[in-house]
Amino acid sequence: MLEQLTHVEQAALAALEAAQDEAAIEQWRVAHLGRSAPLMQVFDQLGTLAKEERPAVGRRANEVKKAIEAAFAARSETLRQLTLARSLTSERLDVTLPGRRAPLGRLHPDTQTLRELYHVFGEMGFQVFRSREVETDEYNFQLLNFPVGHPARDMQDTYFVAIGAPRGDNPVVLRTHTSPGQIHAMRAYAAMNPDNPPPVRIVLPGMCYRYEQVTTRHETQFDQLEGLAVGPGITFGDLKGTLADMARRLFGQATRTRFRASYFPFTEPSAEFDIECFLCGGEGCGVCKGSGWLEIGGCGMVHPVVLRNGGYDPKRYTGYAFGLGPQRIAMLKNRIDDIRLFWQNDLRFLEQF
Ligand code: PHE
Repeated sequence: MLEQLTHVEQAALAALEAAQDEAAIEQWRVAHLGRSAPLMQVFDQLGTLAKEERPAVGRRANEVKKAIEAAFAARSETLRQLTLARSLTSERLDVTLPGRRAPLGRLHPDTQTLRELYHVFGEMGFQVFRSREVETDEYNFQLLNFPVGHPARDMQDTYFVAIGAPRGDNPVVLRTHTSPGQIHAMRAYAAMNPDNPPPVRIVLPGMCYRYEQVTTRHETQFDQLEGLAVGPGITFGDLKGTLADMARRLFGQATRTRFRASYFPFTEPSAEFDIECFLCGGEGCGVCKGSGWLEIGGCGMVHPVVLRNGGYDPKRYTGYAFGLGPQRIAMLKNRIDDIRLFWQNDLRFLEQF
């Protein structure tokens, strides 16, 4: 029996040396330490031995078991190290390679400009008011005091929407400006307290549509940011101060502004307003076409007819309104020379912002 144990031990150790990978070593473990391994059979037979033989064989069997378990542990560890070393060489990383850049989304330049404007006007106490892009002739023109026969109402300028039955002199149109939102907003505010309508301080952003010849400076689709302030005692001075402050916040503290008399049916008096060219500081350059000034938008005091149409008594209330072109501002700030780039979704353009 003792001889048999020595033989079992030697066979197990020799077979262990031959095991070269984890699968082989697992096979070895089942064969030499598993339930039906030769060593286990010796343990099973202990009971059949003569009493005097039993202690010596038992002790020896335990020694052998310990020895081959220790050898198994050592061999497993060696193999583990070997596998690790092999994978470290074969799967070596070149840490000097440049990393892969994760593609990052970003906001459209027009959205960025709009948000900057919301921020500037938000700090001055204006809230954002949104209104519909599909309007009726009544809101887009009539309530804004557009005289019948005004050229803006012509087929050349306005997109008419063909839905339902013909609507006579009140067709459905795509809004040509954000100004109809003035009426919606004033009516909504006045509805809160018709006898004593609350003051209004809002900006109205949104897409506008005109049937235009598309050029580098004109698109059939563009957006506007309209401003409206209504309350007792609002003056043209408030309008000038607000827009001048806006220009300074947006283009820098030294920015000067200029107002030129103009005409809009829904404001009286009306003006166009310019900012001093921030590229040449007013000297005259290519961007301002030598004039030193850049046109930013239209503005004026809300016409009494428009106030009344919005539910505000022009004897008690005055107001001002302005309309800005956020895309125009984005073009000036970023020296974009073609307005058509905005909605072409060309990544080479969009990725620059
Ligand atoms: N609605 C005018 C336009 O589209 C701009 C404007 C808005 C002018 C508000 C005066 C006051 O040209």
